[in-house]
Amino acid sequence: MAPLDALLGWDEDTTAEAYAAFTRAFPMYALTSRDLARRADLTDSGLVVDLCGGAGATAEAILELAPTDAQVVSLDNAAAMQRVGRRTLNDPRLTWVTAPAEDLADHVPGAVDAVVCNSAIWKTDVPQAFVAVHQVLRPGGRFVFNVGGGFAGVRHPDETSVRTGPSLNTLIHQVAARDYGYTPPPPAPEAAPKLSLDTVAEHLSVAGLTVLDTEVVAQHSTMAEKKAWLSIPVFARPDGEFTHAQRMDILDRAYSLTTPDTPTVTSWLVVVAQRPKEQR
Ligand SMILES: C[S@@+](CC[C@H](N)C(=O)[O-])C[C@H]1O[C@@H](n2cnc3c(N)ncnc32)[C@H](O)[C@@H]1O
Repeated sequence: MAPLDALLGWDEDTTAEAYAAFTRAFPMYALTSRDLARRADLTDSGLVVDLCGGAGATAEAILELAPTDAQVVSLDNAAAMQRVGRRTLNDPRLTWVTAPAEDLADHVPGAVDAVVCNSAIWKTDVPQAFVAVHQVLRPGGRFVFNVGGGFAGVRHPDETSVRTGPSLNTLIHQVAARDYGYTPPPPAPEAAPKLSLDTVAEHLSVAGLTVLDTEVVAQHSTMAEKKAWLSIPVFARPDGEFTHAQRMDILDRAYSLTTPDTPTVTSWLVVVAQRPKEQR
């Protein structure tokens, strides 16, 4: 089954415009993209892939760090996201390809120096995407990606130490129940994380890629940024039979119970993998 937020539509202009506006107003995707691009070791790169590149926030980070004559291919299957990217990010070194991550090898010639994938890998068919990355990477080339803490089943210690009250998600559910008669789904029994480090390592190994480094990192933010993020249609809560306007009303009411500069923390699992260098 397709992941939920894919069903809700990356390939819609409302989401694409709201997403791009968010990346311009708030640092979240720029910071996570820069972190990954830095770990990809782009100093001598000639060809870099921005996998699931959306509207280009990650491509921008790659272009900052790659040599001035390097080429960057940003591949994403949502044409709407790329339309916004094409309009806002003009760089002759950047090529946009509208295609699924799993088909990467059909669109890139090979001998790629690095593949960077920010905030998206769990939305793909992971084993297939990893095989495609292996096909295009040159020996020694790096594949760097992150997995949202909830999907990876990891939590940076800052997430518990910094929290000063209920999360905006919790408040959204409370307000939806109070004002809209929303019945939250029963708490799921301890489900296994969708993409734990063990699962990632296994899929990488099957695809012929080795793990060089992993780290759980914390991203510090504020309630104001979280609210803006939850206003992007593809991320709006709660699930169920709500219109976007109703979700935004619930969000406004939930947000009024917090303060804009209340700190929030998001955890990420960062993985640096490599196609092994050829044996001599
Ligand atoms: C949260 S956005 C991240 C975009 C960009 N990397 C950034 O940091 O701004 C997730 C992106 O993954 C894309 N995506 C999801 N599944 C995909 C797949 N199977 N193949 C290609 N792109 C996919 C979506 O279209 C969306 O643009």
